[in-house]
Amino acid sequence: MKIVLTGSLGRIGNPLTQGLVKKGHSVTVISSKAERQKEIEALGATAAIGSMQDVDFLTDTFKGADAVYLMIAWNAIGHLFDKRIDFPAEFNHIASKYKLAVEESGVKNVVYLSSIGAHTNKGIGSLSVYKGVEDMMNQLPTAVSIKFMRPVAFYPNLFRFMQSMKTDGAIVQSYGDDVKEPWVSPLDIAKTIVEEMEKPFEGREIRYIASDEHQLV
Ligand SMILES: NC(=O)c1ccc[n+]([C@@H]2O[C@H](COP(=O)([O-])OP(=O)(O)OC[C@H]3O[C@@H](n4cnc5c(N)ncnc54)[C@H](OP(=O)(O)O)[C@@H]3O)[C@@H](O)[C@H]2O)c1
Repeated sequence: MKIVLTGSLGRIGNPLTQGLVKKGHSVTVISSKAERQKEIEALGATAAIGSMQDVDFLTDTFKGADAVYLMIAWNAIGHLFDKRIDFPAEFNHIASKYKLAVEESGVKNVVYLSSIGAHTNKGIGSLSVYKGVEDMMNQLPTAVSIKFMRPVAFYPNLFRFMQSMKTDGAIVQSYGDDVKEPWVSPLDIAKTIVEEMEKPFEGREIRYIASDEHQLV
C-alpha cells in the first residue's frame, strides 16, 4: 500500500515507519524539518517536508495514497502549560486542515491518532480537545473510512514527574490509592497502527490501546 504518515520520526512515527517499511509498504513521512530527510530515507521511506498546518502541502502529499495516518503534534502548537494558547481552537484548526486535505486529495482510508477521553469533552481537562477533533473528522463523507486510535497515557509522560521523584520521592497526582491506571508504550501504538493499516477499512471504527495497568501507591 502507499501510505502517508504525519508525526515525522517521533515516538510513534519512528517505529511506525519501520514497521510499515518492513511489511513492504511504500511509506512517505511528513516532517517539518528539511534536516530530517536523510534520517527518513535511511529507514527506507520517502520524506515530504512541510507543515501539518499547510493544507495545500497536505493535499499534494496525500494524493494517490491508499491510506494516511494523521496526528496533531502538541509541539506544532506550543507548550502544554502556556495559558495564552487556546488548545481546543488550535486542535480544531489543524483538524479542519486535515479534513480539507483528505477531501481534496481523494484519500479514502484514514487512521487518526485520537486519545482516551475522546467520547466526551466534560471533566477530562486537556483531553477535551480530542472530542472536537473526532467530531470534525466525522464530518467527512461516509465514503471516507476512519479508524480512531484512542491510546491511554503514554509511559514517557512519567518523565514529567522526574523532579518530584528526585526531591520528594513521590509522584503527586489526582489518581492512585486502589485505582489502577492504564499506560501505553508508543511502540505498542505503532504496532497497533501497522495492524490496522493492513486490516480492511469499514466506516468509522474506534480502538483503545493500552500496554499495561498499574496501581500507584
Ligand atoms: N502523551 C499522551 O499521553 C497522549 C495520549 C493520547 C494521545 N496523544 C497524542 O499523541 C501525540 C504524540 O505522538 P508522538 O509521541 O508520536 O509525537 P512526537 O514524538 O511529539 O512527534 C511528533 C512530531 O511531529 C512533528 N511536527 C511538529 N510540528 C509539526 C508541524 N507543524 N508540521 C509537521 N510535523 C510537525 C515533529 O517532527 P519534525 O521535527 O521532524 O517535524 C515531531 O517530532 C500527541 O500530540 C497527542 O496528540 C498523547
